[in-house]
Amino acid sequence: MDSIIVTGGSSLNGQIPIAGAKNAALALMPATLLSEEPLTLTNVPRLSDIKTMTALLESLGVEVTSLQGGKVQVLSSHAMTSTRADYEIVRKMRASNLVLGPLLARHHEAIVSLPGGCAIGARPMDIHIDALELMGAQIELRDGYLHAKAPGGLKGARVPLRFASVGATENVLMAATLAKGTTVIENAAREPEIVDLARCLRAMGAQIAGEGTSTIEVQGVDRLGAATHPVVTDRIELGTYMLAPVFCGGEVECLGGKLELVTAFVEKLDAAGVDVTETDAGLKVKLRGDRPRAVDVVTEPFPGFPTDLQAQMMAMLCLADGTSVLEERIFENRFMHAPELVRMGANIEVQGGYAKVHGVDRLKGAPVMATDLRASVSLILAGLAAEGETRVNRVYHLDRGYENVEQKLSAVGAKIERVRDA
Ligand code: EPZ
Repeated sequence: MDSIIVTGGSSLNGQIPIAGAKNAALALMPATLLSEEPLTLTNVPRLSDIKTMTALLESLGVEVTSLQGGKVQVLSSHAMTSTRADYEIVRKMRASNLVLGPLLARHHEAIVSLPGGCAIGARPMDIHIDALELMGAQIELRDGYLHAKAPGGLKGARVPLRFASVGATENVLMAATLAKGTTVIENAAREPEIVDLARCLRAMGAQIAGEGTSTIEVQGVDRLGAATHPVVTDRIELGTYMLAPVFCGGEVECLGGKLELVTAFVEKLDAAGVDVTETDAGLKVKLRGDRPRAVDVVTEPFPGFPTDLQAQMMAMLCLADGTSVLEERIFENRFMHAPELVRMGANIEVQGGYAKVHGVDRLKGAPVMATDLRASVSLILAGLAAEGETRVNRVYHLDRGYENVEQKLSAVGAKIERVRDA
């Protein structure tokens, strides 16, 4: 396994390119299952999660052609061979469950392994199942797999979601494009990745209205066609790199960044004393004073503060002037970065879904362990500020969601390198 070693203290100056959104691409790729025509995706991020989704789709008989080093993907499901998503692949990545809706919609059957829990929570699929059953699917859980079928195809329905689940909204949105009749998704997730998926489906011929609001209406059509679609910018990678200069000084311009992707996050940065300026090329970020101010954060579905930026924000607040309270409302166990930050000298008290962060003057480098994707990058950020060396182990978590993190940070002055563990 690899580790990443960060030596703190260098201020950052320059431009960081932001890639296409992992969480958009992981929903866009399964959309190929809805049509026998090719789907071309551009601005695809080069990440291990994308490789995992590619392997899953290929196991179903989908042809995936990667071009331009993986930035362009051409997917075609005209020669499908299976509707079974195997546990061996699904257990590695929960987003594998996004083949359920498309398989049911076009092939009227699907056998999808339950993803199982992960470090941040149990990650059940009840909302997905209840919604698809309202559309006529018959879904049975047997030996760890969801056995789903929709004889005669899915039917349009009114589908209220008990919680604005991103994945459930994506599964239902894709399923509804080929269902007979009209589907209205109520309490739909509003994330930019949902809007991006709807735009791609519309380019394929789907009839969708209301994406980005809590109510999405879909008129089913008989078939979908070919499309070429650019993956939206990754707002979580964007937010992550916007924070980098706050840890160690300097000014960074995140290329491709757009304010509307990170509104709630930027409001908190402004309250913490961080300047964010829109430029023609993206978003420029620098700390106003010499230390951020403490702010309270509550994670919520979009347009609220994103849970995927909570760990990164906590790391920054460890150095703030004052005490901050972070409330994690989306996942039941998403503070595993806290004890690792405490190893670096942070002062954090975790109580259930709350973390109280008492700002300290400095952090000290230490060997720390990555536990999940966003926790791992919060430790890299903390290492930028810490005195001495921080060695982040198990960085395979990092490679799931951040392409070339050491290249992007060293290009703006960070002292960071990847080492292969013996
Ligand atoms: C997506 O996961 C993202 N992943 C997550 O990003 C992100 O944290 C999450 O949305 C919330 O924004 C992808 O898009 C691939 P949810 P998803 O369904 O769809 C519970 C990252 O770091 N729930 O909105 O799985 C669930 O347990 C990853 O990039 C049910 O109870 O999230 C969780 O507590 C991490 N039953 C909450 O809802 C269900 O049927 C939010 O889940 C579905 C979800």
